[in-house]
Amino acid sequence: MNNVPKDASAAVLQPSEPIPDNTTSVLGPNFDQPISLQQFIDSYERIGFQATSLGRAIGIVNRMRKWRLSDDPITEDESEEYRSASARSKIRCDIFLGYTSNLISSGLREVILYLVKHKHVAALVTTAGGIEEDFIKCLGKTYLADFNLNGAELRKRGMNRIGNLIVPNDNYCKFEDWLIPILDQMLAEQKATGNVWTPSSLIRRLGKEINNEESVYYWAYKNNIPVFCPALTDGSMGDMIYFHSFRSPGLIIDIVQDIRALNELARASRKAGMIILGGGVCKHQIANAMLFRNGADYSVYINTGQEFDGSDSGARPDEAVSWGKIRAGAETVKVFADATLVFPILVAATFAKEDCNGPLNS
Ligand SMILES: NC(=O)c1ccc[n+]([C@@H]2O[C@H](COP(=O)([O-])OP(=O)(O)OC[C@H]3O[C@@H](n4cnc5c(N)ncnc54)[C@H](O)[C@@H]3O)[C@@H](O)[C@H]2O)c1
Repeated sequence: MNNVPKDASAAVLQPSEPIPDNTTSVLGPNFDQPISLQQFIDSYERIGFQATSLGRAIGIVNRMRKWRLSDDPITEDESEEYRSASARSKIRCDIFLGYTSNLISSGLREVILYLVKHKHVAALVTTAGGIEEDFIKCLGKTYLADFNLNGAELRKRGMNRIGNLIVPNDNYCKFEDWLIPILDQMLAEQKATGNVWTPSSLIRRLGKEINNEESVYYWAYKNNIPVFCPALTDGSMGDMIYFHSFRSPGLIIDIVQDIRALNELARASRKAGMIILGGGVCKHQIANAMLFRNGADYSVYINTGQEFDGSDSGARPDEAVSWGKIRAGAETVKVFADATLVFPILVAATFAKEDCNGPLNS
């Protein structure tokens, strides 16, 4: 032992600083004991890596849901309307939910539908596929398949692949048959009233027309929840609008009114939380709206994007803090994961948990 080089042993066995008693240690779930679904999900926070981020996301969403204006002191410039305790206890955090198109193609559609049906969100932002795939699913099914199916073979068979899902081309033909007469009607109304459409008013109208409880946007229409889709034309919807413009020119879809409506909604929110699944337009459009209120108060990102390429999709919440889109000191987390794995767990442990027949209460 005496021969051990002192410099080597000092380097390897350097003593640690004392660790504060309240520091959380790493611990996984113990399957040797009976474990409820709630205990299982609670165990994520101490597992480490992305499991810990999911645990933090659950905590942040629960705090978004719990917040009431009555939790905050009354400021000097508070309006008369919001000075009474009862009025303050009714004002909640507005939750802005964003998601990429593929998530409506996936079974997350039903999770999003649940949130809209039960009025758990204040506004939705998505891309064109995120709108049309919801209506298309009311007209024909999307099927589970395989990532490795051959593209040329699928093309010959009239099948379209989204990851490991397949949408038959016939579904898009049914969508055209359904949509074109509605566009005709909308154009006639525009000509008669002089009022032009916006992406959100068009989506609301389609939600009314589909009249089907399996549709996210039917519930958004019923519950008066605005759905914003600034890039509405980048999908089958755009193809139909293109064809329609030759047959019956003149339909106007105005994005200016919608950007006002979204930014004003964010500005009017007394507390604002973002839950954003995936990146691109749905992520940035919500974050950008938050700028008009000096940033979001809570932010949960679930996405697979990386930041080394400077993409907005991959940017962590701290980048949005630098732009004023998230407030300094806000509660934030980014879960680096496929949203299809994580979002059902997040909803089960938050929104669905508190509804009377929630999955974790049975
Ligand atoms: N079903 C479809 O995906 C579909 C259908 C029609 C049109 N489109 C169009 O394609 C364009 C691009 O789509 P987009 O902007 O919705 O997003 P996208 O599919 O380009 O994804 C943007 C980023 O979000 C992240 N992301 C995507 N899926 C994720 C997941 N499951 N979990 C975690 N992170 C995820 C990734 O970082 C990805 O780079 C849009 O204009 C859209 O309308 C898509």
